[in-house]
Amino acid sequence: MNKKHITLGEFIIDNQKHFKYSSGELSRLINSIRLAAKIVNHKVNKAGLVDILGAAGETNIQGEDQQKLDIYANEVFKSALINREIVCGIASEEEDDFIIIQGKNNAHNNKYIVLMDPLDGSSNIDVNVSVGTIFSIYRRVTPLGMPVKKEDFLQKGSEQVAAGYIVYGTSTMLVYTAGHGVNGFTLNPAIGSFYLSHPNMQFPKTGNIFSINEGNYAHFPQGVKNYIKYCQAEEEDRPYTFRYIGSMVSDFHRNMIRGGIYIYPSSSKAPKGKLRLLYECNPIAFITEQAGGKATDGHQRIMDIQPTELHERVPIFCGSIKMVEKAESFMKE
Ligand code: AHG
Ligand code: MN
Ligand code: MN
Repeated sequence: MNKKHITLGEFIIDNQKHFKYSSGELSRLINSIRLAAKIVNHKVNKAGLVDILGAAGETNIQGEDQQKLDIYANEVFKSALINREIVCGIASEEEDDFIIIQGKNNAHNNKYIVLMDPLDGSSNIDVNVSVGTIFSIYRRVTPLGMPVKKEDFLQKGSEQVAAGYIVYGTSTMLVYTAGHGVNGFTLNPAIGSFYLSHPNMQFPKTGNIFSINEGNYAHFPQGVKNYIKYCQAEEEDRPYTFRYIGSMVSDFHRNMIRGGIYIYPSSSKAPKGKLRLLYECNPIAFITEQAGGKATDGHQRIMDIQPTELHERVPIFCGSIKMVEKAESFMKE
């Protein structure tokens, strides 16, 4: 069959055999994310028409203003996962604490937990710029039959069984990995199905795009400042092109296709950076590595970091392997 005609649903079933623990549960889980993605997509697409733009008037536990669509997306993904009784716990950027899900017969017998950033780049919604959703899936470490505990959520990124993102862009795409490469699916809005459009996505080994909020330059560590100057220098292969959308998912997606580096470093204002290890950096790092790229905090592999709290932040350098290695060499100096 022509690859372009494979739907995400078919792909999930075809690839079930690759899962280390094949029981169909992970397939069902990804299917429910697919469903939630379509619902959120529908809302995001008509955001200017219905009363869904703007701030909700609340802040999340991290002190950030919540947008109405942050809350909406959070509810849609939560209910898609809870109603289908396939996960035992959820943690979300928009929730203060993790959520325990009892599952069938209130038995706490489900194996998987999901961590998510339901709407990434939400400050871009009101101005019609692409936003996204990021998700990360683990097996619980506590025994079945008991409510999930914090330790189920505080696993290293290297323990992820699947991760992905949805980008609500000029077209809507779902990109995910279950540890056997990265595949991208584009939504055909007329039919409501995702089709395999980007099989086996790979980061070019190097590229010429750098993405970082240079407005914070004065607050960056010296290594980052020096790397920015390196990117801007007039050389055979440089200056690089600077691109920054301000939605990590979109910046990342472009860089994975074109070749580039995305950096959200520490700064004197935010010593641990801005992006969240569990909801943003680990899933993006898993996809990066599965696509042949590299993701570090400037010194250490993101997926080797032992999390200590749910909402913790971490600096991130991710993208084409040669570019990340070059940036790391500046961080060492
Ligand atoms: P969120 O909307 O989930 O809080 O995340 C926004 C993140 C990320 O998507 C983006 O790259 C970054 O914030 C932009 O931050 P700055 O405006 O500080 O550059
Ligand atoms: Mn985010
Ligand atoms: Mn968010």
